[in-house]
Amino acid sequence: MKSLNLWPGREKSPSKEDGEGKIPQHIAIIMDGNGRWAKERGMPRVVGHRAGMKTVKEITKAADEVGVKILTLYAFSTENWKRPKEEVDFLMRLPEEFLELELEELIVNNVQVRMIGDKEGLPSHTVKAVEKAIQETKDNSGLILNFALNYGGRKEILDAVKAIARKVEKRELSPDSIDEQFFHQYLLTPDYPDPDLLIRTSGEIRLSNFMLWQLAYTEFWFSDKYWPDFHREDFLEAVEAYKKRERKFGRIKS
Ligand code: FPP
Repeated sequence: MKSLNLWPGREKSPSKEDGEGKIPQHIAIIMDGNGRWAKERGMPRVVGHRAGMKTVKEITKAADEVGVKILTLYAFSTENWKRPKEEVDFLMRLPEEFLELELEELIVNNVQVRMIGDKEGLPSHTVKAVEKAIQETKDNSGLILNFALNYGGRKEILDAVKAIARKVEKRELSPDSIDEQFFHQYLLTPDYPDPDLLIRTSGEIRLSNFMLWQLAYTEFWFSDKYWPDFHREDFLEAVEAYKKRERKFGRIKS
């Protein structure tokens, strides 16, 4: 499966000198600034989104190359439906377009495509393309490329609460047995560790309803660059900065 290497540099797995133990296992990214990138060039916003799609490929390759295990990309939030219809329609076509162009290469490179978010509410063509990619990469064992599509952090938590409440109502569960680990199993990321690093581009410093539970102890990196201008070296800079951080999880300095 791995005989063909279309992603140069991938053969370089992280060494101890690279700080192997500290490579973030899970990186989540809020890919912001596509619209402003296009506007500054006098172009329609959707041109920025298409440019952002190229960055998705570049950063996926970079993440794989440095040994990241899971890359979660915020591609469409539950609030993004409030945008003009033409922009929403365009954004709903992008996963298809991306997967049409890249699926083969993702397969060869052992990437596993996944999705978090509400499939109900997404157009069937979007779901179909994503499900096909998930199916065709399900036996791969490399980087998990996880698209957050029609995703909202508050909705994710509310849905978990509702599912748990139903169990309590049916007396299948005692409220006292609900701890953090148990709750995590009801979220959309039961099999993933929480993100070690969150990157947001475009100079905005907020979470915008992204992975609210999972980001409790995550390290944050904010870049002033718009997403289409965020390149491999910017990503590596964020990873390097992460490696220098001391994570305390509420403890005192060691
Ligand atoms: C935020 O920028 C970006 C989005 C809402 C869409 C993100 C989508 C992509 C980067 C392409 C996705 C690609 C795939 C493969 C699914 P914005 O439009 O809010 O920018 P602005 O703040 O400058 O207006």
